[in-house]
Amino acid sequence: MESKRVIMKVENLHKDFVIHSKKLTEPNKMLHALSNVSFEIYEGETLGVIGESGCGKSTLGRCLVQLHKPTSGTILYQGKDLWSLKGQEQKQARRNIQMIFQDPYSSLDPKKTASYSVEEAMKVHGIGENNRERHQRALDSLQEVGLDIQHMERYPHEFSGGQRQRVNIARALSISPKLIVCDEPVSALDVSIQAQVINLFKKIQQERKLTYVFISHDLGIVKYISDRIIIMYLGRIVEMYTSHGLYSNPLHPYTQALLSAIPPESPFERRERVLLEGDIPSPIGDQVGCPLAGRCPKCTEKCKKETPELKDTGDGHLVACFFVS
Ligand SMILES: Nc1ncnc2c1ncn2[C@@H]1O[C@H](COP(=O)(O)OP(=O)(O)OP(=O)(O)O)[C@@H](O)[C@H]1O
Ligand SMILES: [Mg+2]
Repeated sequence: MESKRVIMKVENLHKDFVIHSKKLTEPNKMLHALSNVSFEIYEGETLGVIGESGCGKSTLGRCLVQLHKPTSGTILYQGKDLWSLKGQEQKQARRNIQMIFQDPYSSLDPKKTASYSVEEAMKVHGIGENNRERHQRALDSLQEVGLDIQHMERYPHEFSGGQRQRVNIARALSISPKLIVCDEPVSALDVSIQAQVINLFKKIQQERKLTYVFISHDLGIVKYISDRIIIMYLGRIVEMYTSHGLYSNPLHPYTQALLSAIPPESPFERRERVLLEGDIPSPIGDQVGCPLAGRCPKCTEKCKKETPELKDTGDGHLVACFFVS
């Protein structure tokens, strides 16, 4: 088997936010958005990230593109610590790692035309010799995402949602990135448009040999687009495996519950619905034990006291559960 090149390696990442509230006492003012997150991203793959609202998906994405500075832990990009890079190497890394956000409208300046937004991004990253060259490159990028010359001088409100997200994609592409973190990039779009934009992501990936981190809470979309998938719960990775392997053999009780909610592909397939009791606990304050302890049907005394580590159960199928060995 051909060995895979690691483009990014995340090691023991923690991200805490301080909550400014007079009602909270000292240890309870810390919100643990990410706890001990470690994984690798291979060049050319799509790594899906799934989990309920508030589990830390966007915080993780923002750490990867350096919009958040991790509280501790490291992010190695092509073997080098992202936060230690200086000068030309730092500029290069900032150019190579881009992000596309959920809301295509708020990511564009309402007073700037599509072509201006794309050219401005290139200018910020020092791309293109002059304005004429950047204008031409903006047109090339817009055409690559299925827009054309008549869309160049339009303002964000003059586009449909799908077209607006295409402008955002063009803007990211104009910088020639290597890795794109896509944070729920189709969630705000109409279902019929979602498929078009997802296929656009796939096409661009093949043509440009891009690597994606694809964040979504839509299990069907993540399965369709991802090579491997990370399942997150309360700021931690609870399971990670290939897309096919995970959907056919989910091992963590949380993943089992999540996947049991998808309707079966065939009417003859019988699948038991796994329901978790209660709500997700708060990420504020110190956490003890397995994050799922309070809701897991298998919970024991040990689960309430100790946090299970993410372990390889064989063949790279990583699971954090005392019941899986
Ligand atoms: N800047 C911030 N300051 C304080 N708390 C924050 C900040 N950003 C995120 N959080 C908190 O961190 C936790 C993780 O948030 P995050 O946005 O990463 O979740 P998410 O998985 O992306 O959720 P969603 O699916 O709703 O987008 C949440 O509890 C959130 O309230
Ligand atoms: Mg989010």
